[in-house]
Amino acid sequence: MEIPVLDPAVGYINRPIDRFLNLFDEIERLKTEKKAIILAHYYQEPDIQDIADYIGDSLGLARQAAETDAEIIVFAGVHFMAETAKILSPQKKVLLPDLNAGCSLADACPADEFAAFKAQHPDHIVVSYINCTAGTKALSDIICTSSNAEHIIRQIPEDQGIIFAPDRNLGRWLIKQTGRDMVVWDGVCIVHQMFSEQKLVRMKVRNPGAPVLAHPECEPEVLRHADFVGSTSQIRRFAKEDPRTTFIVATEEGILHQMQKDSPGKTFIGAPPESGCACNQCPHMRLNTIEKLYLCLEHELPEITMDEATRLRAKAPIDRMLAMSAAVK
Ligand code: 13P
Ligand code: SF4
Repeated sequence: MEIPVLDPAVGYINRPIDRFLNLFDEIERLKTEKKAIILAHYYQEPDIQDIADYIGDSLGLARQAAETDAEIIVFAGVHFMAETAKILSPQKKVLLPDLNAGCSLADACPADEFAAFKAQHPDHIVVSYINCTAGTKALSDIICTSSNAEHIIRQIPEDQGIIFAPDRNLGRWLIKQTGRDMVVWDGVCIVHQMFSEQKLVRMKVRNPGAPVLAHPECEPEVLRHADFVGSTSQIRRFAKEDPRTTFIVATEEGILHQMQKDSPGKTFIGAPPESGCACNQCPHMRLNTIEKLYLCLEHELPEITMDEATRLRAKAPIDRMLAMSAAVK
């Protein structure tokens, strides 16, 4: 077979695929042949979620990446997630269907700028949201996800100053929940930032009794209308267990696929974005497609690599997170 070359400007294997090929069967075959596992985030397109071996939030995906005995991890998510998998499982080949699947939060916090910011607060402990690059993780003391952030902040002694990066909305939410005074980096998620408070209020009026389930990356103006705030897995679990039948969901709309599968008789309405666009789909997450996933598994490219010194420095705060939140679901 001709060895494909990855064009860095493109970021994925760009080859024609036989249109009659059953990609689901082919992916299953390749997975078995190559002892590969597909880990997918809830914000992936439904076809990818359906072919995945595990679907979860950032904490669940990190735990899976650390524990799997597969030889290849195909990470159907964004770059910082695949990078986290590589940090935790360096002996495994970690693949990302499209290398350009980034994240506005990770982009908002370049390691060199963050190092200068950190130097201004030398006595502070650094807690970073997992949505950041390996370089920023390497400058952090503890990593957290939206599932365990509050649990982790509450374990830090009251008199210890805290820097929180890079999501200002999650940071503000944590300050409100815990009463801790934190220095917060000014990053936002371009998807969660787009929900419209005004339209959400109208949606609530039209759907009386429907609880609003929101991700903490949303702006405070949206979070103040939420009946439940949590990570994607926590939102999914809440909707499954709650007896009500209609829910308004303020997060990336990919999660609705699993929520609907869990509860076919319930109605899930995506919270409205500011304009009439499809902006409650993450443009980074959605760069991955079933075709790119197939080509990535077939050619074992693009692969995540990083230098060992950065990996080891980035691993320490992730290990601390895993140890501090073993009880968090
Ligand atoms: P969680 O799935 O951990 O809640 O994260 C949401 C998110 O925005 C990931 O990019
Ligand atoms: Fe990043 Fe937001 Fe996309 Fe998640 S949804 S990957 S936080 S841009």
